[in-house]
Amino acid sequence: MRCHLWMGLLGWMIAGGFPLHAEKLERGPYLQLPTPTSMVIRWRTDKDCKGYVRWGLTPTSATNRVSHAGSLSEHVVQLSRLKPNTRYYYALGTETNRWITPEAPEYSFITPPTAGTVQPVRVWAVGDPGTASTNQANVRNAFYEIHRQRPADLWLMLGDNAYSSGTDAQYQRAVFNVYAALLRQAPLWPTLGNHDALHADSPTLSGPYYDIFTLPTLGQSGGLASGTEAYYSFDYANLHFVCLDSEDTDRTKDGAMASWLRADLAATTRDWIVAFFHHPPYTKGSHDSDRISDSSGRMVDMRENFLPILEAGGVDLVLTGHSHSYERSYFLNGHYGYSTNLLPSMILNPGSGRIDLDGSFQKGSGNAPHQGAVYLCAGSSGQTSGGKLNHPANWVSLNKLGSVILDFDGLRADIRFIGDRGQLRDYFTIEKR
Ligand SMILES: [Fe+2]
Repeated sequence: MRCHLWMGLLGWMIAGGFPLHAEKLERGPYLQLPTPTSMVIRWRTDKDCKGYVRWGLTPTSATNRVSHAGSLSEHVVQLSRLKPNTRYYYALGTETNRWITPEAPEYSFITPPTAGTVQPVRVWAVGDPGTASTNQANVRNAFYEIHRQRPADLWLMLGDNAYSSGTDAQYQRAVFNVYAALLRQAPLWPTLGNHDALHADSPTLSGPYYDIFTLPTLGQSGGLASGTEAYYSFDYANLHFVCLDSEDTDRTKDGAMASWLRADLAATTRDWIVAFFHHPPYTKGSHDSDRISDSSGRMVDMRENFLPILEAGGVDLVLTGHSHSYERSYFLNGHYGYSTNLLPSMILNPGSGRIDLDGSFQKGSGNAPHQGAVYLCAGSSGQTSGGKLNHPANWVSLNKLGSVILDFDGLRADIRFIGDRGQLRDYFTIEKR
């Protein structure tokens, strides 16, 4: 009789009633490849298992269930047939340990609206964040205060996401451990930095950076299919984003990336075009965009070969990092040479772009070519490294920690640089008419 009871208990445990060898959540969840009707959820467990996601419209009604094939530790599950602009709650499960995330409101996301929808959009951008330091945490915390009042819809990493060489362990320390609360709520769109590239290879799409991120190759999230995760585009509401690989992809003006970019920009009808990549065209920070030997000429390549394409395509904002400073340009057009070649005619508006100081930057709607763009180097989200900070294309250059918050509302964009204690260190506005 006693033996019978014991066997029954054992059977119940094996059936999943009690975890014999409960898998532990090691990484994530994190959100990737958002579309108005789907979302990829990724996470890692300490041992192989079949993972599943339960999801629904409230934390307690997460009754839909989807899993991946096979038994794995790197779990990638796509939720599909979702409604646009809708909040979904989710929980992760395994076969033996029924829930490994709580049924809690913070495990939820909002699907993007149908492309072209006009509604307020908040974007957060961090550059060179991956130091796993107190500085990085302070910059994050300052953003979280603002995020709590009105959450970011998506966020960008501008490269050098995990120091010092983009290993999986460094990504764990500098990305997953630091931004866990945001990763589970807002999709992250990264670009490749030189430090990430020490353990990644763009031509073969291999290494931790490419293993960790699920990025569009087929235009799944809007934009033109690039055929590679190294560079891609996507839409969110009335915005079009372009991610370029300034580190490890052919940067010639007739290469595959440049050809794709021309076609992608020609095809978009969104109101705003935001480009991001790692190497800044205008910096006198810890890197110097005038020095051809600095970063093997990557800053010069991007400025000479890609800025003309971006500006011809109507780009509004270009976000970069690499120099560990904040450097923000005037409202520029046509400055593709060295800093000594900057002409007054290339500065379309010599003011600050601040509405309360000397007025916003203004341009026409419709993505007409060469109507002006603002370039931001924002590589101080994890450390500052000084420099001369005197590039004449920049209206402001600061050796200060911080991150960038971009708020779009219709044809108006308000951009802020927020310091590590929440200081408003720079702001400007672009308006289209
Ligand atoms: Fe860098």
